[in-house]
Amino acid sequence: MEKIGVLTSGGDAPGMNAAIRAAVRRCIYLNKKAVGIYYGFKGLIENNFKELKIGDVGDVLQRGGTVLSTARCDKFKSEEGQKTALYNLNEANIDGLIVIGGDGSFRGAKKLGELGFPVVGVPGTIDNDIPNTELTIGFDTAVNTVIETIDKIRDTATSHERIFIIEVMGRDSGNIALWAGTAGGAESILIPEQEYDIDVVINKILKGINRGKKHSIIVAAEGVGPASKLSNTIKEKAGLENRVSVLGHVQRGGSPTARDRILGSCMGAKAVDQLVNNTAGVAIVKNNGKITTANLDEVIFGKKAFSKELLVLNNSLSI
Ligand code: ADP
Ligand code: F6P
Repeated sequence: MEKIGVLTSGGDAPGMNAAIRAAVRRCIYLNKKAVGIYYGFKGLIENNFKELKIGDVGDVLQRGGTVLSTARCDKFKSEEGQKTALYNLNEANIDGLIVIGGDGSFRGAKKLGELGFPVVGVPGTIDNDIPNTELTIGFDTAVNTVIETIDKIRDTATSHERIFIIEVMGRDSGNIALWAGTAGGAESILIPEQEYDIDVVINKILKGINRGKKHSIIVAAEGVGPASKLSNTIKEKAGLENRVSVLGHVQRGGSPTARDRILGSCMGAKAVDQLVNNTAGVAIVKNNGKITTANLDEVIFGKKAFSKELLVLNNSLSI
């Protein structure tokens, strides 16, 4: 294992740069070469490679996004695309590959593994929807971005005595909604993993109004459907005027928190160690506070359970 490639794929996440930097510098520290692959699997197919030196990953730790750029690449889903990627990796004398991304990117990594190429996955996604790891790179920053916004919305909500629905990211996962909703003191948190009863949501708002509460905040993951629809339902069913705020991609950007920088650094370095020690075919995970590994298959085919405890807790606190 003399030359190690690193790429970022799928949705970007704050802290990916910390992982790239750590992977590159760990390689160099161990007297190995590091190669950056630009635009994820697309770059693998298009031979978009560049050897990275220490200075190439300087001044990136504090930056959001990914300096290697990212892409979604349908061509890589085909056998032809995967074989082209393998050919290019071999031609460039790359011996192992680190894939930083979400579950889709891990599926892609697994395909290369099945073709006999050593791969290691590093979980980078703001959704925190990868099983077998407590945290993914980017989640902490995204949650902090959301609570900052909830706090701001709360100011105007209180001034106008308004009800707000805040839509956060999470097509299939309610983790951002759950964490940010709890940290931001939301009255109701709506997530795709758990059915909700609109009457319960409305009753909670009415109860709040009756006890003189000056605002109501509902945090809804995008996976439960458009916030505008929810807004209309609340208005039509209960005559309650409300406002909608869709936070969108602002949640994916920004300087990573200390937690995400450290998580990215630990995971990026560990990924190199796995390859150098010939223990590929794994994803780097964090469990019980420790950076360790899980079988790539388990991570891809498992489903992360959401924290029901947090939902129950929030329901008991937002009375
Ligand atoms: P994320 O990694 O954030 O979940 P995507 O699901 O969009 O993002 O996946 C990123 C990329 O990973 C895809 O564009 C594709 O190139 C690759 N990929 C996803 N699923 C597969 C698959 N089943 N086989 C091969 N490559 C895949
Ligand atoms: O990064 C994950 C995620 O933010 C999901 O929560 C969201 O549904 C999706 O990416 C949107 O990504 P894009 O706009 O890049 O397709």
